[in-house]
Amino acid sequence: GIARRIDRPVVLVGLMGVGKSTVGRRLAAVLGTDFVDVDEEIERAADRTVSEIFAAHGEAYFRDGERRVIARLMEERHGVIATGGGAFVDPATRALILERGIAVWLDCDVETLVERTGRRDNRPLLRTGDPRAILADLKQQRGAFYAEAPIHVVTDNGPHGETVQHILEAID
Ligand code: S3P
Repeated sequence: GIARRIDRPVVLVGLMGVGKSTVGRRLAAVLGTDFVDVDEEIERAADRTVSEIFAAHGEAYFRDGERRVIARLMEERHGVIATGGGAFVDPATRALILERGIAVWLDCDVETLVERTGRRDNRPLLRTGDPRAILADLKQQRGAFYAEAPIHVVTDNGPHGETVQHILEAID
């Protein structure tokens, strides 16, 4: 492919299940750059899973760690970064990402989110009630924050390869 030069990390934001990690990994491969997943970095730093951190310390504690990890990642030279769905809702984190990265909002319908998040039981926020209702609420509550990203890519149930192409066109 064409060698593209991107001087800022591409930061994927959007709801749980939209495909940030899968798309991010593939996008990085196409761009010939590295990929970092924020949740994985948090789990490595804490030596616990996200679910364990929520269970042991609660969401506010998780958000503090998430903010610190993203601040560090934005300092390092990464090509593509996938955030957890709540990261971009935090004002300080959002400001940092908007200033230092190219934020891409991946967006899709609630049904697709329900299907994709249902494959694994690793989202503590979806355990507190009906996942469909929770995801619909989060979509409503967070939409205005995600919309601050300069790039908006709607994926719905399309193949991830297509999403990668849409992102490449948008950042070109
Ligand atoms: C969260 C999303 C998760 C993870 C945590 C909280 C959220 O990441 O960070 O469970 O608030 O939307 P994914 O978007 O990768 O599932």
